Amino acid sequence: MKITIIGTGYVGLVTGVGLAELGHTVYCVDTIKEKIDFLQKGQAPFYEPDLEKLLKKNIKSKRLMFSVSLAEVINKTDFLFICVGTPPQANGSADLSYVYAVAEQIKDLANNSKIVVVKSTVPVGTNAKVESILAKNIRQRPTRLWREKAKFSVVSCPEFLREGRAIYDFFHSDRLVVGSTNEKSAKAVADLFGKVKAQKVITTRETAELIKYASNAFLATKISFINEIANLCDKVKADVTEVALGMGLDKRINPYFLKAGIGYGGSCFPKDVKALRQISGGNGYDFKLLKAVIEVNGKQRKIFMEKIKKVLGNLNNKKIGLLGLAFKDNTDDIRESAAIDLAKYLVKAGAMVTAYDAKATLNAKKVLGNKINFVASAYEAVKNVDAIIIATEWPEFIKLDWLQIKKLMKQPIIFDGKNLLDPEQMKKNKFNYYSVGR
Ligand code: UDX
Repeated sequence: MKITIIGTGYVGLVTGVGLAELGHTVYCVDTIKEKIDFLQKGQAPFYEPDLEKLLKKNIKSKRLMFSVSLAEVINKTDFLFICVGTPPQANGSADLSYVYAVAEQIKDLANNSKIVVVKSTVPVGTNAKVESILAKNIRQRPTRLWREKAKFSVVSCPEFLREGRAIYDFFHSDRLVVGSTNEKSAKAVADLFGKVKAQKVITTRETAELIKYASNAFLATKISFINEIANLCDKVKADVTEVALGMGLDKRINPYFLKAGIGYGGSCFPKDVKALRQISGGNGYDFKLLKAVIEVNGKQRKIFMEKIKKVLGNLNNKKIGLLGLAFKDNTDDIRESAAIDLAKYLVKAGAMVTAYDAKATLNAKKVLGNKINFVASAYEAVKNVDAIIIATEWPEFIKLDWLQIKKLMKQPIIFDGKNLLDPEQMKKNKFNYYSVGR
């Protein structure tokens, strides 16, 4: 099949590369010229394991092409995927201006029937609104021939990929959700992903839109729940890892997303939980649970900072080695990263911070500038420090030579915000080791 992808962020680019790898001919469009220039050379604009490999492979086989002009490619293809951003507005609701602007362009440029697939995360009712924008133009078109030729079907197909594991997730997704008003279009979209063995959920557009928000909000709720249990563990001398293990063995609960720490970050959970609250409020329903999920997440970083202050006392001129800047491992993304918040708190308190992250340093520099030092290895970051803070769950940190690190530090204190290291082992190594709920 021939497909246009509009927007080459995480969702658009991974979807485009994935669909090309499945054998389709894919044109990816973005308005940012530098980005398209890079992509044409097979260079990804962000770090994502295996992305560049598949990018280069599919460009070579001419199944994947890039353009800055939607007009140039739109009528070569039958499927149009809207993958533009829906960033949060000041009140938490999703900004849909990019989605609607794309719908307007499609309306003006398409001259034959298209299936328009909305992959961007959008509030309930957005797919219907996109369809009404497209339909407007059909009515405006002068001849009967035009009206018959250009018919649009708008299908909701939300994305569930995780950053850092996006390529894997594309080919191994648990489910494919397709929301449509007509069976034929739903089947056509599901067939595009035919080779991916995912359970198919064919439903209405409104339900599909809500499945996406409900999934992210539920996962965020699990994290905030386990973080509250962790805070309680700290008070009653219980171990949250073992509580989570005991809970997760119950198949009704399952063991995933029960890792306590300094709270969730990233480009999805913080934005989507707030947006779902807005969607609920806007429809006259007060979704009380989500308010607590958001509050607990915000509080988690502060509680951790309090723990650090309690142990170190006045932070003025204290030297801190910060391990991790990304919002999680395997990514260079720092959006809503707890590590960045911690760096800011530390600087504000007068501490001198030296940070290391395998991938996110460049992005962190854009936000933190010269307020902290950035170094090229974990060992450099810990030289002569009063304490180490682990803020990202990079597996690399588990494998460090912690005995050597102890020798490099001024005093052996570790604050592990991701519960990454083994407390028993750290005790044996004679560290003063603090984590979350253990
Ligand atoms: C998430 C969803 O998982 C994905 O399905 C959706 O499409 C986009 O949002 P992502 O933001 O890439 O994906 O990362 P994820 O792995 O879900 O982690 C999100 C945040 O939660 C990270 O900050 C991570 O450190 C944190 N987290 C995750 C925990 O604190 N505890 C956990 O048990 C799991």
